[in-house]
Amino acid sequence: MVKIAPSILSADFSNLIADIKKVEVAGCELLHIDVMDGHFVPNITLGPPIIKSLKGKTNMIFDVHLMIENPDKYIKDFVEAGADIITVHSEASVHLHRTIQYIKSFNVKAAVALNPATPLKDIEYILDDLDMVLIMTVNPGFGGQDFIMSMVKKIADLKRMIDSKNLKIDIQVDGGIKPSNVHLVADAGANVIVAGSAIFNSDNIEETVKAIRTNASK
Ligand code: DX5
Ligand code: ZN
Repeated sequence: MVKIAPSILSADFSNLIADIKKVEVAGCELLHIDVMDGHFVPNITLGPPIIKSLKGKTNMIFDVHLMIENPDKYIKDFVEAGADIITVHSEASVHLHRTIQYIKSFNVKAAVALNPATPLKDIEYILDDLDMVLIMTVNPGFGGQDFIMSMVKKIADLKRMIDSKNLKIDIQVDGGIKPSNVHLVADAGANVIVAGSAIFNSDNIEETVKAIRTNASK
């Protein structure tokens, strides 16, 4: 059974709580919050104050995807704002092992994201320390981009790597996922599905969430 994590990047920011309620009612488990700094990625989104303002207004897990340089500097702020899972990019952290331990020291879950061009070997020796690995299926920075098909093999390779070590680590995918292609990533081993535009731009959020869940298990 997959978990679904709608990305609020594609929500209506002038009506954020209303949109969040819709995905919560539709049964989504996680709220995917994309933080961009205009340096690591060519876009700027939101920071701790907005996350803090949403905390307590929904029971969904706050899944905070940091697309920022120097993440260590801000991790404490995101924990205090209410993050339950913090994902940092391997490309943005020079001392990734230290960053992961730092996240875990706050008793929140730690995850590492890999850009499409980044090899799995970058996390090979820290895999045991992770709660989740995020395979980017687009280049980070914007919602609504096309799914990169070659990432299916990367997901399958990661799944094999995790299984061969007998670990229980979630595999999250993010970018260009919709009802019509979710089976590809789910078959390959992904169990946490991020979807932004597919969910929030749809006419019927509940139906779309249901379609993602059903198609993932086909
Ligand atoms: C991309 C973000 C994604 C994005 C996904 O940099 O990390 O979470 O919002 O949006 P869709 O599902 O529209 O590709
Ligand atoms: Zn994301």
